[in-house]
Amino acid sequence: MDVIRVRPMTPDDIPAVATWMVQTPLWQRYQLTVERASKNFEGAFQRHEVLLVADAEADNIGFALCVPQGGFGRSMYLRLIGVQKERARAGVGAALLRSAEDAALKISRELFLLVSDFNTDAQRFYQRQGYTQIGAIPGYVLPDVTELLYWKQLQHSKAIT
Ligand SMILES: CC(C)(COP(=O)(O)OP(=O)(O)OC[C@H]1O[C@@H](n2cnc3c(N)ncnc32)[C@H](O)[C@@H]1OP(=O)(O)O)[C@@H](O)C(=O)NCCC(=O)NCCS
Repeated sequence: MDVIRVRPMTPDDIPAVATWMVQTPLWQRYQLTVERASKNFEGAFQRHEVLLVADAEADNIGFALCVPQGGFGRSMYLRLIGVQKERARAGVGAALLRSAEDAALKISRELFLLVSDFNTDAQRFYQRQGYTQIGAIPGYVLPDVTELLYWKQLQHSKAIT
């Protein structure tokens, strides 16, 4: 794989990302459609959330969406991260996560995320990147799926503010 470049997403990136995103088995389980994916991204732009895409030998091979203060009104929450199936396991996810962490550090010292109980590949990916499971929310999004709450302390607390 060529050098991986992570950059801010622009509205022009939405159709390409939404198109491959709905072919990902994870989001098929959540019955995501191109229309809903596109609306999610458009809403995120309107709310000035953090949207990133990764380019390498092709454009738009991965993306991340973070909600500033989406974690308890205090810390950044990584709402979505994805890499095209054909380009997985080549470091794109790690590059996106590093950029999300850099963005998170501008507002707080932690990054929170949820991962589905059945998504063991992603759980291993997050654990390798230093994330720890700290909770579980049964039936939060889908009735038969428990969402696992993970976090990473990016910097140790110096004071309670
Ligand atoms: C989970 C996900 C984001 C990880 O992205 P990725 O680009 O595959 O991740 P990376 O390549 O950085 O790391 C994944 C694995 O590839 C390995 N890897 C990293 N660089 C590599 C390289 N150059 N060559 C070979 N393997 C490599 C890592 O060691 C890691 O191995 P592990 O799974 O055994 O821990 C991606 O697989 C994905 O989009 N999955 C579907 C959607 C999803 O589950 N999203 C998360 C929940 S919202």
